[in-house]
Amino acid sequence: MKISGSTILITGASGGIGGAIARQLVQRGATLILVNRDGDKLAAFAAELDAAGGKPIPLAGDLAQPGEPARIVQDALAQSGSIDILINCAGVQNFGFFAEESAADTATLFQINTVAPIALTNAVLPHMLKAGKGQIVNLGSIFGSIGFPCFATYSASKFALRGFSEALRRELAGTGVGVTYVAPRFTKTAFNRSAVTRMANALKMNQDDPESVAASVIAAIERNDRERYLGWPEKLFVRINSILPRLVDPSLIKQVDQMRPFANESTR
Ligand SMILES: NC(=O)c1ccc[n+]([C@@H]2O[C@H](COP(=O)([O-])OP(=O)(O)OC[C@H]3O[C@@H](n4cnc5c(N)ncnc54)[C@H](OP(=O)(O)O)[C@@H]3O)[C@@H](O)[C@H]2O)c1
Repeated sequence: MKISGSTILITGASGGIGGAIARQLVQRGATLILVNRDGDKLAAFAAELDAAGGKPIPLAGDLAQPGEPARIVQDALAQSGSIDILINCAGVQNFGFFAEESAADTATLFQINTVAPIALTNAVLPHMLKAGKGQIVNLGSIFGSIGFPCFATYSASKFALRGFSEALRRELAGTGVGVTYVAPRFTKTAFNRSAVTRMANALKMNQDDPESVAASVIAAIERNDRERYLGWPEKLFVRINSILPRLVDPSLIKQVDQMRPFANESTR
């Protein structure tokens, strides 16, 4: 879909990847509706984009609250008149051994990573269908295709988002509304707390800058990609894991011992 002249609602807008996407979208002439939880951070970021000529609309909201996605879309439409593209980028991560994870943390993670993007899509879809055009863009993860130890609920939340994206894309074929799922690998943002970053370094995980991830997300939008997996060899591992998961089991099971001290530190 064309970026220039489009009105784009992006959640997680002041985060590492969302912020980089927003800056690049402004450079390409989009009008942005920025959503995140922290109102002060959002106002500062909106002022930065305004100074760059972006004229963004900031909308603070807590996606962990069930009623918020519908309210956010309603307010966004009232202020902007239209939404051409929805980018679901807000997300949180639970890292550690699942036996130590509280039910409340699991529920919050699913609310933010899975239920909120689905609810935002549900609220914006009638508007896009009426217009006969639109694009839903969901930020997943390589862990949304490869179930990763010590990220069990995070992986599950992104598996669900990937399944939703695939089903909805098929359902909407021919309507003019597309669905794009983008799966980054480890990206250097505040999303990864200290223990996760040190673990990633110890495991020699490949790491991307948010700017390059943002450029890939925008390329995926422009090309109306169905799915885009970022990084080599990660995109190959995704294929192998989907066809022959038993081939992948031994290396990931072996890694649990290397992850243990970091996971213990995280859940202590
Ligand atoms: N970084 C990685 O390694 C990585 C890898 C693969 C996929 N991803 C995915 O990429 C997306 C963006 O990640 P990131 O690295 O940019 O994360 P980040 O820097 O931590 O930013 C997260 C964003 O989500 C917002 N958010 C969190 N909880 C919220 C809530 N309850 N209500 C509203 N907004 C909320 C934050 O807003 P506040 O600051 O106001 O809380 C922030 O803007 C996520 O979906 C993540 O799963 C990240």
